[in-house]
Amino acid sequence: MTRGRFITLEGLDGAGKSTHLGWLVESLRARGTTVVQTREPGGTPLGEKLRALLLADPMHLETEALLMFAARREHLAQVIEPALARGDWVVCDRFTDASFAYQGGGRGLAREKLATLEQWVQHGLQPDLTLLFDVSTDLARSRVTSMGRDLDRFEREQAEFFERVRNEYLARAASSNGRIRIIDGARLLNDVKKSLEEVIATI
Ligand code: TYD
Repeated sequence: MTRGRFITLEGLDGAGKSTHLGWLVESLRARGTTVVQTREPGGTPLGEKLRALLLADPMHLETEALLMFAARREHLAQVIEPALARGDWVVCDRFTDASFAYQGGGRGLAREKLATLEQWVQHGLQPDLTLLFDVSTDLARSRVTSMGRDLDRFEREQAEFFERVRNEYLARAASSNGRIRIIDGARLLNDVKKSLEEVIATI
């Protein structure tokens, strides 16, 4: 049995990753791949409860990081690892790059602490491919606020926070040996789709 592929999507809130996720999953299924679509924080009943706390309740920044990784441990054990072992592909809306970008870059948590948690929880498992939807913080902000819904605890952060998050994502992409592919998310939807098609054709 061939192990499945693990693909993650990342980007600022408002970068467009959720829009493209559905299309990506459909096009993988259209070529006969069995795909498990999931998200973080969340992806399991316990993880979704932790997500609700993480998005709403004020907490210490280390508590935030620990809860993100606690939800991830459960998600790996219950969903991601079994799916990959069965040969299914997993497409996950955010994963550990988001912890480095938001808790590390955005909030300033030491990267060594995050790396320790990563090692503890993932035992070396990494996504095979990460699509990073990149847009300016101004564009991301205007997309999020134009949705007209209540903003969560992360979405209410200041512009400087998102600058730090974006810079961390870009720095990780630069040192990822090709695992993280940057997709310019500021373009028209169809142009972004074309880039995605090109990337998918290579996997
Ligand atoms: P997101 O998928 O953007 O939620 P939605 O698009 O449905 O609003 O994720 C929720 C938030 O969680 C997002 O602002 C980033 C944050 N987050 C972290 O800070 N660290 C993490 O490790 C993960 C997975 C998410």
